Amino acid sequence: MLKRLQRWIQDKSGIGENRDALAVLRRRVDALAALQQQHLPETLSLPWIPELPEGVSPAIHRADAMFRFPLSVSGGDWVRAASEYFGAGRELALAAKKSAPMAQSLLDFGGGYGRVGRFLAAEFPTAERWVYDPKAGAMAFQQNAWGARPWNGTPVDLVVAGSVLTHLRPRDAAAELQRMLDALRPNGLALITLHDATPETQVHSATEESALPELEDQLNPENYASVYFSAADWNRLVPAGWTYRVLPERFGGTQQILVVTRAEGEA
Ligand SMILES: C[S@@+](CC[C@H](N)C(=O)[O-])C[C@H]1O[C@@H](n2cnc3c(N)ncnc32)[C@H](O)[C@@H]1O
Repeated sequence: MLKRLQRWIQDKSGIGENRDALAVLRRRVDALAALQQQHLPETLSLPWIPELPEGVSPAIHRADAMFRFPLSVSGGDWVRAASEYFGAGRELALAAKKSAPMAQSLLDFGGGYGRVGRFLAAEFPTAERWVYDPKAGAMAFQQNAWGARPWNGTPVDLVVAGSVLTHLRPRDAAAELQRMLDALRPNGLALITLHDATPETQVHSATEESALPELEDQLNPENYASVYFSAADWNRLVPAGWTYRVLPERFGGTQQILVVTRAEGEA
């Protein structure tokens, strides 16, 4: 009886022989997924997408982890994954429009494959729209799909960074936050999303990318993690001369949206 119980626990927890079998199975699934990835068209054909505002592109790049991860964890639930993807992108673009309605130039910082960028294009049709992302494939996609321009360092009225500082270790986050703020014109503002504050800052190696090793254009995991800042560490990260407020809106239901501006008298 005890032996049967031990075997049952091993089956459930994947230790001993079962652990080895699970590792083999994992590699086999990863290999099949990598092969399949090579045969996907660049943009996915979805069986369903929500109704989108006029002019918003429905194109989703095959390597967009922002779509592939929810699709994977939902077990292939297209409706849920597409609703979350387009819903989150729209939420942040609308918050940007509300915060900086007159912006004539904007930068989608860490814009990835444009979950937000496509809605920025619709909300700010006459603005100069720049994009920056370390992924070459993402940069190319945003340029081709809705005409975002690769950022050349030009100062802007608005920076939008959706779920970027949620992935950078504190030292890198400080440097990238400074880079975003340096990019702002005198009355400019930055919209930055963060996880809700935790009692201590937490850095976890598991990310949506590490869960999907078949996706091309992967970042070095040393530089890309899941990061939850404590309020004290975040406040230390915000450079002197800058201040922020938290909007009532949320990003994807899970992240807070901060508006960072120059402190009074610093313009
Ligand atoms: C979670 S994704 C979010 C993408 C997009 N903003 C969105 O909301 O769909 C994080 C993005 O940050 C980019 N990234 C990683 N390191 C970065 C860095 N040091 N500076 C700017 N972007 C970075 C990644 O390539 C990735 O596209």
